[in-house]
Amino acid sequence: MTDKKHFLSRYDFVYKLNSPLVISKSQGAVLTDIDGFNYLDIEAANGSVSLGYDNSILDESIAKVRDITSLPCFCESPLRIGVGDKIAQALNSITGTEGRIAFELGGAQAMELAVKAVRSNTNKSQYVVFEGGYHGRSAFTSQFSASQRYRSIVGDWRLPVIRLPYPDCDQCRFSQHPANCQTECISYVKQLNAFEFGGTYSQKSGTDVAAFIFEPLLNAGGMALPDKRYLNYLVDFYRSQGALIVVDEIFSGWHRTGKMWAFQHYGIQPDIVVMSKAITNGMAPLSCVWARDPIMLEPHFPPGSHSLTFGNNTLSLSIADTVIDRFTNWAAIEGDVAILEGLLGLVVKRLVDKYPAVVKSGYVIGAAGRFLLQGTYGGKITELARTIARDHPVDDMHGLILANSSLAPNVIVFKPPLNIDLSLVGTFEKLMDMTFAAFEKLNTGI
Ligand SMILES: Cc1ncc(COP(=O)(O)O)c(C=O)c1O
Repeated sequence: MTDKKHFLSRYDFVYKLNSPLVISKSQGAVLTDIDGFNYLDIEAANGSVSLGYDNSILDESIAKVRDITSLPCFCESPLRIGVGDKIAQALNSITGTEGRIAFELGGAQAMELAVKAVRSNTNKSQYVVFEGGYHGRSAFTSQFSASQRYRSIVGDWRLPVIRLPYPDCDQCRFSQHPANCQTECISYVKQLNAFEFGGTYSQKSGTDVAAFIFEPLLNAGGMALPDKRYLNYLVDFYRSQGALIVVDEIFSGWHRTGKMWAFQHYGIQPDIVVMSKAITNGMAPLSCVWARDPIMLEPHFPPGSHSLTFGNNTLSLSIADTVIDRFTNWAAIEGDVAILEGLLGLVVKRLVDKYPAVVKSGYVIGAAGRFLLQGTYGGKITELARTIARDHPVDDMHGLILANSSLAPNVIVFKPPLNIDLSLVGTFEKLMDMTFAAFEKLNTGI
């Protein structure tokens, strides 16, 4: 189908694949293509489809907006107020702080909005992020995201962005192993901020950092989980210097790591939290910024600080309303995700032990995990997995959809729906096993 002439620009991720999947059906954790092949989607549309592909969400949401199909952007609605209140509650209750909500449409746009909120509250100018961080690929957010490749078209605007050492202990920037770690990353940052040579500090006016912006679990950066001491040090230090703490929970929010917010694993108090993906279960564009008061209140953020035509689009808001209620009504969610984490952890352990020439290590947190490979063959393995059982389907699956990013080519990641049918974890193991075996065979001598 995609080989035929069509008028879509081949600009995006779809055409990164030589022959992209052309999907006609989705249900639970399974995608079916137009030729009838089934794929176990263990990456849940880049972690968006946390509640699985589920058309009952759509039916329920459409019913709510039958009488208000769209809304002019200068009008308020009970629906939007209600969704804002529900999201605010999810953060106010956990942080113990009251905050305001603002909507946007995608992850990158919400990050831009968050930076606007930062700018309206500070006269400092620099931003601190992690190496390996990913905050979007709009012209503006690509300045914060790690890879220079993202800026290759728009150009490097030289925003004052400081990149701190990659927070991945299994690939320590200081060649240490967690067992003998002396937190060299912290010593590095201490030095960076104690002398003018680091470029953020001046003896006269202290540290010039407007915000520390980070993912509590780096998604595109290879599912890297920052060391607790390192992250807590950075939050405490930059806050003490007057910087705002901006947590990018676009991927990790809403129980992806077990807890509702990944920052909870660290006991961190954020100033601003950005979310997207899971709030509509990947079904409609909507993102959201929460900022503790008074960051998005007047006089810092008066009416007219921001504008978008579709910020109160009723279908996205209705879907968010339905999805948030489902999360809220899933009383045992933390326990259930812990069970999934345990099962996935066993799969990872067995496969790491079985394929030492291919896989170095792996781990799982909540419903997110990774295999750290012995080389930069994440792309090849992901591609192999896609058709691994085409001729001999396993549990009716013809392939496995994994994720991998050029930011971390030596990693493959998985992030299934949180409510995946647990028998499919066994299917995942079988397909993964077949994939590693096939890769090893193809690459004997690696
Ligand atoms: C942590 C994080 N931040 C930002 C983004 C960008 O979101 P979007 O693709 O909706 O612009 C992503 C997308 O994968 C992400 O994982």
